[in-house]
Amino acid sequence: MADTASTDAAGPHDDGAGRRDFLILAGGAFGAFAAGASAWPLLDSLNPAKDTLAASTTEVDLSPIEEGQAITVKWRGSPVFIRRRTEKEIADARAVNPDDLPDPQTDEQRFGTGAREQWLVVVGVCTHLGCIPLGQKGTDNKGEYGGWFCPCHGSHYDISGRIRKGPAPRNLPVPPYAITAESKLIIGVEQPKGGHGGDTA
Ligand code: FES
Repeated sequence: MADTASTDAAGPHDDGAGRRDFLILAGGAFGAFAAGASAWPLLDSLNPAKDTLAASTTEVDLSPIEEGQAITVKWRGSPVFIRRRTEKEIADARAVNPDDLPDPQTDEQRFGTGAREQWLVVVGVCTHLGCIPLGQKGTDNKGEYGGWFCPCHGSHYDISGRIRKGPAPRNLPVPPYAITAESKLIIGVEQPKGGHGGDTA
């Protein structure tokens, strides 16, 4: 099963020419998982098989994504925002004092360090009442902190996906994910210790 995701340059390389659409092959879809699970005996659901675990993950080839580009994929029925951040965006995100934040978290706590830090991976659902924030397209309103803006009631998220202003109570959630040596992102599993994704905070 394939999910369609769109890329959109939104950084300093955003001249409009680099925009393109491509297919992201998802490792599985939550819909298929749910349909299968409903027919299973209870005991089986307590011991999820390998294929069940695979069905609850989404795999994304990161290699075509350029610095400053963002794409959206689906994971367990929710949009997940993926962005290859620029060095300036990473530096801006890391310069923030977490004590000044409504939901204090450092960027390092959210995305780790090393090779992993350039990749932002968040569930793209506003933590106020569940709207999908703007900010994935280069032409979107990104709010006062250069990340995402929820138009429903005016929540502003920064380039780390942290809530900075507005009624949303929490940062955009970071799902479990791993990055392999082949630049494959697997959403739904934790990064193995010592894995390619770099040190984790
Ligand atoms: S749902 Fe996003 S601000 Fe209310």
